[in-house]
Order: sequence, then C-alpha cells, then structure tokens
Amino acid sequence: MPNKQGSHPIFARFYTRLSASMEPVVGQHRDRVLAGLTGSVLEVGAGNGLNFSHYPRSVTNVLAVEPEPHLRMIAEAAARQALVPVTVAAGTADHLSADDASFDAVVASLMLCSVPDQRAALSEMLRVLRPGGELRFMEHVRSEAPTRLRVQRFADATIWPACFGGCHASRDTVAEITAAGFRITELTRYELPESRLPWPTSPHASGVAVKPR
Ligand SMILES: C[S@@+](CC[C@H](N)C(=O)[O-])C[C@H]1O[C@@H](n2cnc3c(N)ncnc32)[C@H](O)[C@@H]1O
Repeated sequence: MPNKQGSHPIFARFYTRLSASMEPVVGQHRDRVLAGLTGSVLEVGAGNGLNFSHYPRSVTNVLAVEPEPHLRMIAEAAARQALVPVTVAAGTADHLSADDASFDAVVASLMLCSVPDQRAALSEMLRVLRPGGELRFMEHVRSEAPTRLRVQRFADATIWPACFGGCHASRDTVAEITAAGFRITELTRYELPESRLPWPTSPHASGVAVKPR
C-alpha cells in the first residue's frame, strides 16, 4: 500500500527487479512503439526509465513525469545514460504541468492500468499534445475472452491493485483511448509473457493514437 501520495516503496522495488528481468522481451516492444518518434516528447508514468534508451535520436527532448520517488530516482540515473536529452520530474497524469498543445508526442507504457482516473489521464494527454500529435501506447489490457475477463475482474476486485501499485487487469484501455478523443491509427495485440498459464495481465495492446487536427 502507498504510505503517502504517489509512494509505493515495496512495489517500486519489486517492479525494478521484475522489469529488468523482462526487459529482453519487453525492450523489443519498447523499440517498436517508440520507433520514428520526432520532436518534443512527454512520457507519463515513466517508472524506472526503461524507455529512455529506446528513444530514437530524432527526439529532441523528453520530459518524463513519475510520481513514485524510488522509481523516479532510478529514472534520473537512466536519464543520464540516454542518447537523447531526458528531464525527469515529479507529477501525476491527471494534472500534467504542461501547456496545451506543447508536445509532439506523448508516451504511455504500462501505466494506464495504474492511474486512479484513466479518463482524466487521457484527457490531460490529449490536452498537452499538438493537433496531429501522437500518443504512443503500450499497455496490458482487458481480455477479449470472457473467461479470462472474469479472472481479470476477480483479480481487480481482490488483491491485485493492492499488491501491484494500484494496477488493474481488466481496464478496457483501447476503448478508453478512443473515448478520450484520440483516433487509433495502429494497433497490435499480443500476449506477454507468452506462457501456457497466462497472467491476468498477459493481454497487451500497443500502437499509435492521433490527436485530431
Ligand atoms: C508498471 S509501472 C510502468 C513504468 C514504465 N512506464 C514502464 O514502461 O516500465 C507503472 C507506473 O505508473 C506510475 N503511475 C501510477 N499512478 C500514476 C499517476 N497517477 N500518474 C502518473 N504515473 C502514475 C507508477 O508510479 C509506475 O511508475
């Protein structure tokens, strides 16, 4: 459980280890999702900064917002190693401290499951993007299979959010991105990990969603 706003000390340490162990596979998806980005990028819920080394050199600057202090500290170290300029700042997705239409792209990876108010977060991402700008997303999402969705809902109603930093398995994030006013132009669905016994969070979706001009 968090001990103050934004702080999940046990989850932060757990996620740092888990994410490092999964990076050989997840890193390939990070490469794909971030490929071709240009200009000024806002990354929301940057965690321990694992996206930073995957930004192409065509990105001029990244503002990476992360509320959790331990993850933010690791992200600051990752920013110093990145190939593009990355600034790490405290903040939350529902009140982004950025002007309207001030970024060419927004990145959300594995974080829309955890924000307390997904609609508010997506609405803020839309606000700070310039018209025609892109939301690049990579999220675990609601299963399209009824039995697995029941498992996800059970997990969400019991221990999952408390154990995993507020994460929810059953959120229909793809539908919410569209409902927020984005136009999805690329969508890839996949399982991660690809194991015979799936996790509640195995169904993933990634892609590009554009802010209409
Ligand atoms: C599973 S981690 C993913 C971290 C990173 N984006 C990645 O791809 O590895 C979830 C992240 O969402 C962040 N988060 C949770 N609530 C948030 C909020 N309200 N605003 C911004 N980030 C939030 C957490 O602090 C954590 O860094």
